Amino acid sequence: MISSKLPKILYGGDYNPEQWPENLWLEDMKLMKQAGVNLVSIGIFSWALLQPNEETYNFEWLDRLLNLLAENHIYADLATATAAQPAWLSQYSDVLPVDVKVNKISYGSRQSYCPNSPTYRRLGQQLVRSLAERYKNHSALAMWHINNEYACHIQSCYCENCAQAFRSWLQKKYETVEKVNEAWGTNFWSQHYYDWSEIIPPRATSTFPNPSQVLDYRRFMSDSLLDCYLGEYGILKSITPDIPVTTNFMGDFKPLNYFEWAKHIDVVSWDSYPNPEPNYHPSWAAFNHDLMRGLKKGQPFILMEQATNNVNWRPTNTNKRPGVMPLWSYQAMAHGADGIMFFQWRQSLKGAEKFHSAMITHTGDDQSRVYREVSKLGAELGSLNEIIDSRVPSEVAILFDYENWWAVEYDQRPSENLKYLEQIRNFYNPLFALNIPVDILPVDADLTRYKLVIAPLLYMVKPGVKENLENYVANGGTFITTFFSGIVDETDGVFPGGYPGPLAALLGISIEEFDALEPHLENNIELIEKIEEAESQYRCELWCDVVKLHGAKGLANFTQDYYAGYPALTENHFGKGKAYYLATQPDQSFFKKFIKHLCQLNQIKTPLEAPAGVEVLARNQCEQAFLFVLNHNQYPVSVALPVSLQYQNLISKKTITGQLTLEAKEAAILCNS
Ligand code: GLA
Ligand code: ZN
Repeated sequence: MISSKLPKILYGGDYNPEQWPENLWLEDMKLMKQAGVNLVSIGIFSWALLQPNEETYNFEWLDRLLNLLAENHIYADLATATAAQPAWLSQYSDVLPVDVKVNKISYGSRQSYCPNSPTYRRLGQQLVRSLAERYKNHSALAMWHINNEYACHIQSCYCENCAQAFRSWLQKKYETVEKVNEAWGTNFWSQHYYDWSEIIPPRATSTFPNPSQVLDYRRFMSDSLLDCYLGEYGILKSITPDIPVTTNFMGDFKPLNYFEWAKHIDVVSWDSYPNPEPNYHPSWAAFNHDLMRGLKKGQPFILMEQATNNVNWRPTNTNKRPGVMPLWSYQAMAHGADGIMFFQWRQSLKGAEKFHSAMITHTGDDQSRVYREVSKLGAELGSLNEIIDSRVPSEVAILFDYENWWAVEYDQRPSENLKYLEQIRNFYNPLFALNIPVDILPVDADLTRYKLVIAPLLYMVKPGVKENLENYVANGGTFITTFFSGIVDETDGVFPGGYPGPLAALLGISIEEFDALEPHLENNIELIEKIEEAESQYRCELWCDVVKLHGAKGLANFTQDYYAGYPALTENHFGKGKAYYLATQPDQSFFKKFIKHLCQLNQIKTPLEAPAGVEVLARNQCEQAFLFVLNHNQYPVSVALPVSLQYQNLISKKTITGQLTLEAKEAAILCNS
């Protein structure tokens, strides 16, 4: 369980009572209890109030707040408050961040600090130590919340402190300037460095900066912010070793290498803000939940923030229709969440987020549609504690790599329309539609338990990855990768000897050249052998490789252009398994048919067949299975259940046999009784 103090599904939200008169706090406690709230995140943006100047702390209001929470049996996810420094601290010359054009970014908003500022780190860590010492034995303290959404607003700083820190980071990694030159290929464009002091961040320059330098700078920035986090983490662990620590992540967020970060956090939490507009597809959140669950090998995570209704930061901020918020909360749980939280408890009257929804709306009381939904959900979650710690069993893994993402989307690539997440989703979405659970894993993960492993656009092949994949397939696994894979090493240098570099033996092919297609152009692929239920021809776009077979067999060929008749899809027997290569981007119908075919071949099954728009996912606990059935449709559906079994719907508390009927947007959790 996430917190030993709180053996429950966590439920609550960001609570910012400093925005309100204290006489309202008692009312908050009453309404929280009425809504089933058991955990609130406090102090996230309170640094300025907690510390009026460098010498003085003002903890009294926080004492009163924590005492009040304790009296009301509501726990605190206590923030370290370092996400937004006070104005007085921004007066130090090293604190404010600097953009790529070397302009200072002002204070007056939030999260505007340089991660390598010694002053920011020193005073931040002093505050964290003081908070931890003061509250280490407080009965309300259940969890630490370090900072907030690292890199959300400032993804990179280019200041002199960062330049200096970058040099030290490079020294640790490469030891000599010569090795940096080698890694970055600086004989190109006269970029050779003779002294460490010449090396700078990839600031705005005449044209394209050095891609290997840009890649290292991304690594360095992710590490710099991680260092900020670790500075605080170390202090918290030395004072309160038993209190779990989290920081809220942001799903498929590019700037931070979350697989690296997750090694240093006790519990993963993340903030999910799907756009509730009519064309939104629930696979977006599903993928993000799976990615977050994969960060700590399937351990349950917390949905730390979601909106009860609208947000305030999109061009148009449409509402979540009735039923959507609870449905999406159950979706998070289905994918492995043991906590459902919101931003925020009480809707602000002032500040940039006053039109962002909250659990208590501007009516200020319990008389809103939103509060009724919030308290109904709270009551339901209160009876679902047996689900805690159960796991999502998956036989399919998609490999995901942040450094690969950074490198493959560098400005200078064969097509600017090549987007890593899109290529991942080409495979994820059909699996989602088939209700086949997927784990999202790093490239060095142990793959032995998976029947199918997919690594779309594996452009960068880091040391050890080839061996990991070859072992997996040799031992009977099925592997798929796509065009523009096996191209560069970890420095972003192209493998000599042609593509797909180290993946050539596994795939049994070579790629003579690749052709990026203009957005309005397409080609076709034609299957050589028929796949059950599949058409024989599919449109394809974006990219076509010119593939030569070296042991692999062609399953489909291009039909047009100078590579007509050349393979577009190949299969290679390698040891006891098979490795597939897809040399283009066919339309969605191809992905659906092909993925379904591979699932059938490998006996990968959904836990329950369901109509379109109904998501099904199981969470298992010992012998017990909790079957989540989520109707994302605007209309009611019926789902046929195995005839011989009787189920309990843990949400409606009804016994179900034969047929489960769900209203539009309704969720059920079925348990075999
Ligand atoms: C982020 C932040 C919150 C709040 C919400 C609004 O997730 O962490 O403080 O600003 O966005 O959607
Ligand atoms: Zn900086």
